[in-house]
Amino acid sequence: MIFTIAIDGPAAAGKGTISKAIAAQLGFAHLDTGLLYRAVGAQMLQGVDPVKAAQSLAPSALRDTNLRTAEVANAASKVAAIPEVRTALVAFQKSFARREGGAVLDGRDIGTVICPEAEVKLYITASAEIRAERRFKELSEKGSTDFATVLADVQARDARDMGRADSPLRPAADAVTIDTSDMSIDAAIAAALAEVETRR
Ligand code: C5P
Repeated sequence: MIFTIAIDGPAAAGKGTISKAIAAQLGFAHLDTGLLYRAVGAQMLQGVDPVKAAQSLAPSALRDTNLRTAEVANAASKVAAIPEVRTALVAFQKSFARREGGAVLDGRDIGTVICPEAEVKLYITASAEIRAERRFKELSEKGSTDFATVLADVQARDARDMGRADSPLRPAADAVTIDTSDMSIDAAIAAALAEVETRR
């Protein structure tokens, strides 16, 4: 059985949580494609050429526990604008999307570039302020940060991800948009699962 669920949207809209929940519920494999760009961004911060890093990315690099920092997120969105970096990561994502047993992929270009033939395409979004609040809560549990910086980071990353020439973040023409601004996590997961079920 080949069945792909493509989940795109801006940072901290709830994509990751929703994707994991859907994959667990359906028994599908899940790929957080942002981790690929984060792993390349982390290597760039260590002085490695990002194109070379993308071309030789090893699965173990995705298990690096330091990929979730704001610094790595910003580096990820910078390397993600380099066409050669994206090209190096496409084949792996495409084959993951069409693997036997079903797959959920979350990212920025899954429904538009990686898997335009996906059976389900969701665009998960929320206002920049609400997304920054969520990210701020997460980050402030790990250390000190201030809201204004987190909001500015979210807005800068949105602008970079939506404004780049190669594979910009945008909803696919046939994607269903779910705005999670006023939804609990459980309500957002339920809304996403309902969309999946209508197409299964
Ligand atoms: O989803 P996450 O916040 O981990 O993604 C980090 C960055 O990686 C994004 O800001 C974006 O620039 C890039 N990315 C991308 N295409 C994807 C997934 C992530 O360009 N499919």
